[in-house]
Amino acid sequence: PDHDLLIRGGTVVTAADTVRADVAIKDGVIRAVGHDLGSATRVVDAGGLLVMPGGIDSHVHLAQDVVPGPPMADGFESGTRSALAGGNTTVISFAQQPRGWTLRASVQDYHTRAEGKSHLDYGFHLIVTDPTPSALSQELPQLVDEGYSSFKIFMTYDAMVLNDREILEVMDAARECRALVMVHCEGYDAIRFMTERLERAGKTAPYFHGVSRPQSVEREATHRAISHAELVDVPVMIVHVSGREPMEQVRWAQQKGLKVLAETCPQYVALTQEDMRGLWDDGLDGGKYVCSPPPRDHDSWNAIWEGLRGGVFQTFSSDHSPFYFEGPSGKQNDKARSSFKWVPNGIPSVETRLPILFSRGVGEGRITLNDFVALTSTNHAKLYGLYPQKGSVAPGFDADLVLWDPNRREVITQDKMHHGADYTPFEGQSVTGWPVMTILRGEIACEEGRVLNAPGAGRFLPRGRSSAWG
Ligand code: URP
Ligand code: ZN
Ligand code: ZN
Ligand code: ZN
Repeated sequence: PDHDLLIRGGTVVTAADTVRADVAIKDGVIRAVGHDLGSATRVVDAGGLLVMPGGIDSHVHLAQDVVPGPPMADGFESGTRSALAGGNTTVISFAQQPRGWTLRASVQDYHTRAEGKSHLDYGFHLIVTDPTPSALSQELPQLVDEGYSSFKIFMTYDAMVLNDREILEVMDAARECRALVMVHCEGYDAIRFMTERLERAGKTAPYFHGVSRPQSVEREATHRAISHAELVDVPVMIVHVSGREPMEQVRWAQQKGLKVLAETCPQYVALTQEDMRGLWDDGLDGGKYVCSPPPRDHDSWNAIWEGLRGGVFQTFSSDHSPFYFEGPSGKQNDKARSSFKWVPNGIPSVETRLPILFSRGVGEGRITLNDFVALTSTNHAKLYGLYPQKGSVAPGFDADLVLWDPNRREVITQDKMHHGADYTPFEGQSVTGWPVMTILRGEIACEEGRVLNAPGAGRFLPRGRSSAWG
């Protein structure tokens, strides 16, 4: 046979084109896209299906120590199993630097956590929490050269927050080594002020998590991060933009000609602040939806769609940050019952990212099919230095594909999920469009929700420079 695998009769979708074509694969790489491509050891009939580049989720947290807090519900094995079942073939997770540690030791630690466990290809962003002179001037340039070409910094959280001076120093270091800086934009002092005020008034239920960090707090921090990036003259990625007000800051900066990129996530088009009120009398189950920035309101959903349609956002990521709901380390643990500030932040969402964007976006006519591919795969590859290895369906690219049924109706329920968490925040939501098969470097890795490859089949991906640097 000429090829190992032939995907026949589907509609190939890339960020630029939609075309009826077959895809021929040999040695894990796409060799041809077209017709009459020759023989193959195995043929997959993709009639009625879309053939798209596998999802690349550039914002997931797996096996990460959140300080202080309970362990995450997903390590690399269950987290990547869930990602694969959701139509993804690559994730970029975070290697978090504990204060007092070198960046090198932190990266090695997270490699140990992932080693032999991943069901799909993975990279790491660094999280810089301790920007010492040696971390910035010696370690960072080396690590960027070795394939950790992006890192995240935080404007809030006790264990991670950087002050303005530190943010400027870190951005300056990124400029030297052409790394892409991702910024978590929420104002630390404002959140602490609001949290203490709410606690004094006895307003401690999960719902008040949202009240403690309203859009103005995110808007202010977004503006500050943009201003610092302008001062240092460095591209910046504003991650998990939650609503209208921060979106407008990003759009304003882009219209001014600044190199400001932005990401948004499923929770900002499919959950609202009201979900955090919970269904039970005590409202404690509202903790299921607690993440930061918090879900907003319907006006913000509209603004996020405006931004997705209008090119304000380049990436749609999950920000998968899974915690259990039940049990002593769950979101409603004893400490968390005493105040929302102890509810672990984050939700499991890596498996439902593609169906939610496809259904609400493509299915309901808000974005095009090609936008969908750009937002879920191609732009992640370009911005995080994986292009042209990942992110398209074309000769020479890794044969990472998702075969997608655009008409399949499903209701999202916990029993369909492959993650470690004991709930999904999207329980009961109906979607049209679902992954049927996920192919990783030419191997059928998942079919109809059955994960077929072994943990460890995924490879570590050293990444090149971001396209944001031109
Ligand atoms: O609540 C969230 N999103 N937790 C994950 C960490 C982060 O800030 O992205
Ligand atoms: Zn054909
Ligand atoms: Zn964040
Ligand atoms: Zn995150």
